[in-house]
Amino acid sequence: MALLSQMMILGTERLNEVSGNNSEREALILLGYVMDHQTSLLQYNLDKEISTSKQNLFKYVVDKRCQYQPISQIIGKRYFWNYQFLVTPDVLDPRPDTETLIEQALVMGPFKRILDLGTGSGCILLSLLSEYPLATGLGVDVSEKALNVANENASLLGINDRAQFRIGNWCEGLFEKFDLIISNPPYIAEVDMNNLSKEVLDWEPRIALTPEGDGLSAYKSILTSAGQLMSQDGTIILEIGFDQAESVTAIAYENNFHTVRIIKDINDKDRALVIT
Ligand SMILES: C[S@@+](CC[C@H](N)C(=O)[O-])C[C@H]1O[C@@H](n2cnc3c(N)ncnc32)[C@H](O)[C@@H]1O
Repeated sequence: MALLSQMMILGTERLNEVSGNNSEREALILLGYVMDHQTSLLQYNLDKEISTSKQNLFKYVVDKRCQYQPISQIIGKRYFWNYQFLVTPDVLDPRPDTETLIEQALVMGPFKRILDLGTGSGCILLSLLSEYPLATGLGVDVSEKALNVANENASLLGINDRAQFRIGNWCEGLFEKFDLIISNPPYIAEVDMNNLSKEVLDWEPRIALTPEGDGLSAYKSILTSAGQLMSQDGTIILEIGFDQAESVTAIAYENNFHTVRIIKDINDKDRALVIT
């Protein structure tokens, strides 16, 4: 029998190449996952024994991480806003930056009917519906596999009666009106894809990261149609790349929107546009 502390040393050493300064923290998370423990509890119990099957499972997940698979995909979950979301290789790993959109929506709300375009794991729509118990919403995605994850997340959060999901290409085939249209579309320009870390490039769905070309085509599709889907006094909130405020604002003006406000994230970078 080996001890948890021995596994920690082995895991930390192996993860060093991929995770550098984070290797000890990541080894602890993965060991916690294998042992069904909270990491904080594990830290104080490392003199316990670990069974052979759990040792093997730990070595397996460390191998996965050494192949640059993101921790959230390995343990199958990620905390976003106030909630825990199931994460698989079929969806974008929800990013803390995207919480800027939730904050903004909560400042401007409440909204009763919400459309989330490119819903992925459903993290945006489901966080908002959890905060607004009277709201209902529709999440659209072109990926059926992503929608399966979003549906599962709705069930896990106990709000599948208020969240619907639909396969589709942005706004195509939608006719009803929404108080809030919110989206974190793929926006990385094709030329910038090679600058991404292996962890992102090799493991996250390309369709969630880039619309190819100059990175702006999703904004063009969305802003061409969104006006017809907005209720009177409706609002659009779009996540943008840190250097895209000017280009996406221009697209909004071309599509007859009159007011565009830039929202910065906690790192003081342009992160979202509020369009009315
Ligand atoms: C950046 S991810 C955002 C996922 C999630 N909303 C989030 O913030 O974590 C973009 C999402 O848009 C979806 N997508 C890409 N092209 C699309 C299209 N033409 N129509 C609808 N959704 C699309 C992708 O499948 C992906 O789930």
